[in-house]
Amino acid sequence: MTISFKDKVAIVTGAGGGLGREYALELARRGAKVVVNDLGGSRDGTGSSDAAAEVVAEIKAAGGEAMANGGSVTEYEQMEKMVADAKQKWGGVHILINNAGVLRDKSFAKMTPDDFEFVVKVHLTGSAFATKACWETFREQAYGRILMTASSTGLFGNFGQANYGAAKLGLAGLTKTLQLEGAKYNIKVNSLSPVAGTRMTEDLFPEEAFKLFSPENVAPAALYLVSEDAPSNQIVGAGAGGFHSAWVMMNDAVWLPEGQRTVEGFADAWDEINAMTNLKAPQSGSEQSGAILAAMQKVLGADAGPSSTRG
Ligand code: NAI
Repeated sequence: MTISFKDKVAIVTGAGGGLGREYALELARRGAKVVVNDLGGSRDGTGSSDAAAEVVAEIKAAGGEAMANGGSVTEYEQMEKMVADAKQKWGGVHILINNAGVLRDKSFAKMTPDDFEFVVKVHLTGSAFATKACWETFREQAYGRILMTASSTGLFGNFGQANYGAAKLGLAGLTKTLQLEGAKYNIKVNSLSPVAGTRMTEDLFPEEAFKLFSPENVAPAALYLVSEDAPSNQIVGAGAGGFHSAWVMMNDAVWLPEGQRTVEGFADAWDEINAMTNLKAPQSGSEQSGAILAAMQKVLGADAGPSSTRG
């Protein structure tokens, strides 16, 4: 089975280099018309260049269709214009890959409030702005595929990246609510946590690893997650040819009857509350209260037995 993007219009933000460039090239190879967005700044988000135009030239040289967009994801009006330009030229927008990003790494003790705010603004607010600019079109068309770019830093933490990690887990959270709101309009939303040798990681990877973790090895996951038959509400990891899924899980609730519902009662039950057993991946927030009520009913419904019980 060949996965085609013929007749699809895709926007890839931050596609002037690294992972975004690879996604744009591969989407175009498979028939998509691609908006290559990038303001072409340096790794910390300063300056500008013609990076987007260069990728467009590569796509066109290979026989594909693309247009460059130099807008910043942090400016909502520029994202609206990007979508309007794509619709005017190609009649719609079907796919959005939120990939633009910057780094301002420092330990939290040394991080300035500006460095925190800027990184959150580019990754989290920028992805929300680009998505918002596409949302009405996706609803009207009853078709939309959105990929957020999360990170292992957001999912699991990394020293020196408090700003980046906060934004990246925020994107997984944005995915979870948007996939619920988009479901009835055939809008599917997923998050990808890539590992790739790009300018963002060039000082972390030794040369051999840099090659192994090439952006080409991440693109299959990214493209599948924005394809016609994509799943929704997934967090997928990809790097060096390895792929995995990650979930936000919870265990069964422990319900403490009134007499035990004290700080000490909680402390006594802590090991049970914190046990990694019977894990589930809820599909919406209401499942948390449902699990608590189920645990309560289990205790109140039983005449005898332990005074605290998992539901
Ligand atoms: P990269 O630095 O090559 O790509 C990021 C692109 O975003 C750059 O071309 C940059 O000019 C563009 N950009 C920055 N601010 C922008 C703005 N305001 N508007 C439009 N474009 C803007 O780095 P890489 O590695 O390709 O990163 C792509 C995405 O993957 C980022 O979101 C990054 O956080 C994420 N990521 C990368 C990992 C890796 O191992 N390389 C690991 C985890 C996440």
